[in-house]
Amino acid sequence: MSESFSLIIFGITSNLAQKYIIQALYDMEEKNVLPRKMTVVGNARGKISEVQFYEYIKDALVNKKSRHHQHEIKEEVMESLLKKMHYIDGHLDNPEFYIRLKDFLNKIAKSTKGKDDRIYYLATYPDLYQDIFENLKKNGLTEEEEGFVRLMIEKPIGNDFKSAKEINDLLAKYFKQTQIYRMDHYLGKETLQNILTFRFGNGLFEPLINKEHVDHIQISATEDFGIGARGGFYDIVGCLKDVGQNHQMQMLALATMDAPVEFSNEAITRERIKIIKSLKPDPKEVVFGQYKGYTNEKNVAPDSSTDTFYAYKAEIANERLKGVPIYVRAGKNLAQTVTEISIVFKTPHNRLYKDLKKGMEPNVLIYRIQPNEGIVVRFLTKKPGVMELEENFLQYCYRAQDPLNPHALPDPYERLILDAIRGDQTFFADAQEVEASWKFVDTLIEARKKPIIYQPGSWGPKEAKELIEKDGRQWLEPSNAFCNIPLPIK
Ligand code: BG6
Repeated sequence: MSESFSLIIFGITSNLAQKYIIQALYDMEEKNVLPRKMTVVGNARGKISEVQFYEYIKDALVNKKSRHHQHEIKEEVMESLLKKMHYIDGHLDNPEFYIRLKDFLNKIAKSTKGKDDRIYYLATYPDLYQDIFENLKKNGLTEEEEGFVRLMIEKPIGNDFKSAKEINDLLAKYFKQTQIYRMDHYLGKETLQNILTFRFGNGLFEPLINKEHVDHIQISATEDFGIGARGGFYDIVGCLKDVGQNHQMQMLALATMDAPVEFSNEAITRERIKIIKSLKPDPKEVVFGQYKGYTNEKNVAPDSSTDTFYAYKAEIANERLKGVPIYVRAGKNLAQTVTEISIVFKTPHNRLYKDLKKGMEPNVLIYRIQPNEGIVVRFLTKKPGVMELEENFLQYCYRAQDPLNPHALPDPYERLILDAIRGDQTFFADAQEVEASWKFVDTLIEARKKPIIYQPGSWGPKEAKELIEKDGRQWLEPSNAFCNIPLPIK
């Protein structure tokens, strides 16, 4: 760990900082995993005192936490975190701000007399990036003389292929690739990272993940809540760009990529890029939806045609998975909040019980990302005493070992901030990966017509059902029958 370390968060009052970054810092403070001599510099435009800033942080911790951080906030942990935190107001397009920032960072460097490592975290608007980079550079704040300088940049990187490429080119002008950490917090989720271990650390299932054995794959990220107060952002972006270009693409990549030759950043990233590049979009096989009442949400255009739901079918053009349909869906205000990947296996021709009810039900390997996190195999058993079939689960449940521990699963932001401090880029998106993913999404967006209105609380428009049913398949109803370990809510 570094001698002295500063995390500079541009946009400390953003929704992202409030709900995720500040909460992760709290968890890391509680677990005592933050670097010993650490300073967090928060920046926003408002001229507020240090006391007001601390009040803001406390309020974020107690009242603004995301649904993933529903645990107790301890006064003493909060106080020790606050001791590390400072606020510097300033407009990011004003050069004067960077002079004050530099003075502040220099003082820290002097007081610790050691190596001075820095991470700049961009939790702000992309149209400010150019100003930020230019001013950091002018003030010598991008130079790596005394310690490392890294940059964490949030999704979305761009709004389409072209703008993503522009941002990547801009980044490359000011930073080396080894300094750039493109965040997709899904890559930091324990439940996603474990897919690699499950697949490539065991011999049992991986030989089956191919076109001979897999009938199809389903990837769902459904949420039973709407866009909340994020109308201004969401109405410009829409569902496919918000989660389809990034989170769901990473789910798909980890579940389907080829085995990396070793567990290294380069090898794993190479396979993710390869699989995303080989994913073939079909503009005829996509459905866009919008929940009823969306246009009444705050900061949403009354005639908005933004998608709050999508479902598509695609295929991977490689030898191993050629011809295996991949059905992907995501949306807001749906029946249930569930994120999962289901690998649905083919039913053998000689199934002995095909005439019984459920006799033709397929085996399914489920990676449940959240909630009731687990890795589960669905299979058939005989009901005791009668010749009837029932479905059962072979299950590994993440929370089973320590059900009362709210930190049983580390937070993805926590994991990724630590990775960035350690200099490990394995679970950050590469420029090529981001661009390949946008190319795929752009093709579907070009086919976008006015979204189909669906009822809140449903599974989306009926056309999404038809998309899969015309192939003789069905969306799997997410099951609550496994890993049902309630979280301790305090
Ligand atoms: C964010 C999206 O990136 O991810 C949100 O902007 C979405 O719209 C969220 O709800 C989902 O993340 P998680 O970790 O709650 O599944």
